[in-house]
Amino acid sequence: MPLVTSKEMFARAYQEGYAIGAFNVNNMEIVQGITEAAKEENAPLILQVSAGARKYAKHVYLMKLVEAALEDTGLPICLHLDHGPDFDTCKSCIDGGFTSVMIDGSSHSFEENIEVTKKVVEYAHDRGVVVEGELGQLAGVEDDVNVENHSYTDPDQVQEFVEKTGVDSLAIAIGTSHGAYKFKPGQTPQLRFDILEEVSRRLPGFPIVLHGASSVIPEFVETINKYGGQMPDAIGIPEEMLRQAARSSVCKINIDSDLRLAMTAAIRGHFATHPADFDPRQYLTPARTAIKEMVRRKIVNVLGCSGKA
Ligand code: G3H
Ligand code: 13P
Ligand code: ZN
Repeated sequence: MPLVTSKEMFARAYQEGYAIGAFNVNNMEIVQGITEAAKEENAPLILQVSAGARKYAKHVYLMKLVEAALEDTGLPICLHLDHGPDFDTCKSCIDGGFTSVMIDGSSHSFEENIEVTKKVVEYAHDRGVVVEGELGQLAGVEDDVNVENHSYTDPDQVQEFVEKTGVDSLAIAIGTSHGAYKFKPGQTPQLRFDILEEVSRRLPGFPIVLHGASSVIPEFVETINKYGGQMPDAIGIPEEMLRQAARSSVCKINIDSDLRLAMTAAIRGHFATHPADFDPRQYLTPARTAIKEMVRRKIVNVLGCSGKA
């Protein structure tokens, strides 16, 4: 099966009240861990590549890895550019075989965001590629950008943005954030479900995307810290909140940090018990298994998309 867009995945997810996981990929073990879990759960899948991942691994390597996963699993897989910073990056991914791109104009003014997003949509749609836009800004660290405070999505802007740009899905800011430090110690995790509801009311049937949606599961942070890591105060989004989002108009949930934590905990744990190992296969095997188990946990516990491929 060739790569697919997210169009049909989202239509069904919206109707049936579940979400598709969009997992960031940077190397072979991550691609394999994610796709093996999705295969075993028969789940639809979005693999996403950031500008940083393209710089790290090179476009062509990631493309070939994803093609191998397609051949190996037979799953419907959408290959998506995560946080496309500008038109040229989006164009390069569209020309290079991606089936979906995000143009992240969220740091621009409303008018400039519309302008660049519309330009990407026109180029993408002519080539059968779908586009995700963003309104509002998440706090947290993402690539070289560090945003201190959330700028929540204004529901008054969403209809105009979608109509003028023609985007296929919209990422919104309701209090999630990128990275492993989403709330301060002692702070009760909260999301603005009122904004999500209002956005959904204004855009009936339209797929919403949640970025910064890792749960930073405490047992992984504890393992990392136990084996010499230093991640004090790492806190994520409670899984119940994500389940609630997945049942609503949220059709795509982005997860990267939880994969990084699972992989890091596995590698640190491995070296604690096998200090003499120096063959990468020995520590990357448990790392790949940890990715697989994390993705399975997301599919079953959070996204609700098991059996929906
Ligand atoms: O939202 C950002 C993703 O976690 C990707 O992170 O830009 O460090 O690859 P990256
Ligand atoms: P996390 O850092 O919460 O995993 O979010 C990832 C993300 O939004 C990628 O676009
Ligand atoms: Zn993101």
